[in-house]
Amino acid sequence: MHIFLIVAFIIFIFLLFLISYILVFGFGITVIYELVTKMPYAPVRDEDVKIIFNRLKSIKNLEGQRKTFVDLGSGDGRIIFEAIRRGFDAIGYDLNFVLNIIAFWKAKFKGIKNAKFYRKDFFRLDLSNIDIVFVYLYPNVLAKLEDKFLKELKAGTLVVSVDYPLQKMKQIDFSKEGKYKLFIYEK
Ligand SMILES: C[S@@+](CC[C@H](N)C(=O)[O-])C[C@H]1O[C@@H](n2cnc3c(N)ncnc32)[C@H](O)[C@@H]1O
Repeated sequence: MHIFLIVAFIIFIFLLFLISYILVFGFGITVIYELVTKMPYAPVRDEDVKIIFNRLKSIKNLEGQRKTFVDLGSGDGRIIFEAIRRGFDAIGYDLNFVLNIIAFWKAKFKGIKNAKFYRKDFFRLDLSNIDIVFVYLYPNVLAKLEDKFLKELKAGTLVVSVDYPLQKMKQIDFSKEGKYKLFIYEK
């Protein structure tokens, strides 16, 4: 009986840790979700987020003008938080509901009231009213998205792509920022 209680206690503690881990970080569910949907999640490193925004600012300073900024595949929301901090009206879209929940709670925790996150396939979005599009996506997805960009984006919209280039849009900048290659395009 004594041994039974000890084992039950250890299992209880283990489950408690496991559930807290999943709830706090969501990575467990996210990994399973990724395996099923084949949509990999890799966030831009925290320390490089500001560096990327600084580069964008140096090419075209649109900060503080309430321009519309979207992150297509917004993950845990870190890009959107920085966009809001810099005075954009920013919206994140991601199909992974766990990441949407994490982004939502991170916004609450940080006290960022105007962060918006939607669980939506970005191929189903209307992109015609957006000023800046941010993407950190693999080339096969980017290739399909680029046709949508060419069809829907208004003249002057900027597309910021981390690590992978677009093939058809007019490139206005390339740089190496922190760990990443950064490509900026203008419609
Ligand atoms: C490499 S992560 C980038 C995360 C975030 N933008 C960042 O830089 O930290 C790509 C994200 O795109 C999402 N994604 C992939 N295909 C999608 C689609 N069709 N619609 C919405 N989100 C998608 C994935 O769930 C994943 O979270």
